[in-house]
Amino acid sequence: MGNRLSGKVAVVTGGNRGIGRAIAERLAEEEAAVVVGDLLGELGTAGPSVEGFVCLPLDVTKEVSIRAFVDEVLQRFGRIDILVNNAGIVIHKSIDEQTVDDWDRLMAVNLRGPFLMTKYVAPEMRRTGSGAIVNIGSVEGFMVNPWHTAYAAAKAGVHGLTLGLAVDLGPDGIRCNTVCPGWIDTDLNRSYVEMHPDRSLIERELGQLHPVGRIGSPKDIANAVLWLASDESSFVSGEMIAVDGARTKKISLPAILDEEYRAKLSKLAL
Ligand SMILES: NC(=O)c1ccc[n+]([C@@H]2O[C@H](COP(=O)([O-])OP(=O)(O)OC[C@H]3O[C@@H](n4cnc5c(N)ncnc54)[C@H](O)[C@@H]3O)[C@@H](O)[C@H]2O)c1
Repeated sequence: MGNRLSGKVAVVTGGNRGIGRAIAERLAEEEAAVVVGDLLGELGTAGPSVEGFVCLPLDVTKEVSIRAFVDEVLQRFGRIDILVNNAGIVIHKSIDEQTVDDWDRLMAVNLRGPFLMTKYVAPEMRRTGSGAIVNIGSVEGFMVNPWHTAYAAAKAGVHGLTLGLAVDLGPDGIRCNTVCPGWIDTDLNRSYVEMHPDRSLIERELGQLHPVGRIGSPKDIANAVLWLASDESSFVSGEMIAVDGARTKKISLPAILDEEYRAKLSKLAL
């Protein structure tokens, strides 16, 4: 497609599927050497090489795994210019159902993971004098779906981490930003949609919650990550950028007062 990342080495955590996969593909299209780190055996794709990028085993909850992963990337590629902290899980439980183990597991993947990855990658970026870290936060760091207390707390934490890293690592030539996806069609939230028997109805109604008239695709997120990872955004750091079709910008109204607007949106979806 292009060469906006030519000569750069990018690491994408959780890149075996969904948003991470789209990010890995998009960065590779722009000529970055891309290394995906994901749980070994997940979908059977953590292996030597998949579709133009290398896949290595990585569990972002384990410091020892992160160190081995970073060492291996450096051995093979000699540098790391871009880190995309994408790996994430969701737990859909009320505060009463949620166990301490649930809470700790989610925090270990979604919040401690980005911290630890940065801890081991930043020295390498500091050595070369430049780097771009892009975290995947969420609109649920600003607003929240029911039964997502742990997820929302972790994502708000990722947003705070972004501010801190932008300030602390800025003098080393390292930028840090976060993309906050809205509703993106992936396995992560497909089970949510499938709780209702009429999937197409749910998708239509979800689309109507977005002023742009549709839910997002992994590629929508990948394009935003590409910009933040590239030198085109060299004066942007410490930002949380929502990529959500303006869903979080619209104040909700009682359905009866929102009919005309929704009717307009439903025509968009046709
Ligand atoms: N899908 C959405 O609507 C949406 C919205 C907002 C934010 N997000 C965020 O986007 C990111 C990607 O989500 P997705 O929808 O593509 O999810 P997904 O479930 O489709 O993919 C997540 C990937 O992360 C990997 N992973 C999980 N635990 C890991 C670990 N310990 N170490 C390494 N890899 C691990 C999984 O194997 C998987 O490949 C997550 O951080 C998620 O919170 C998603």
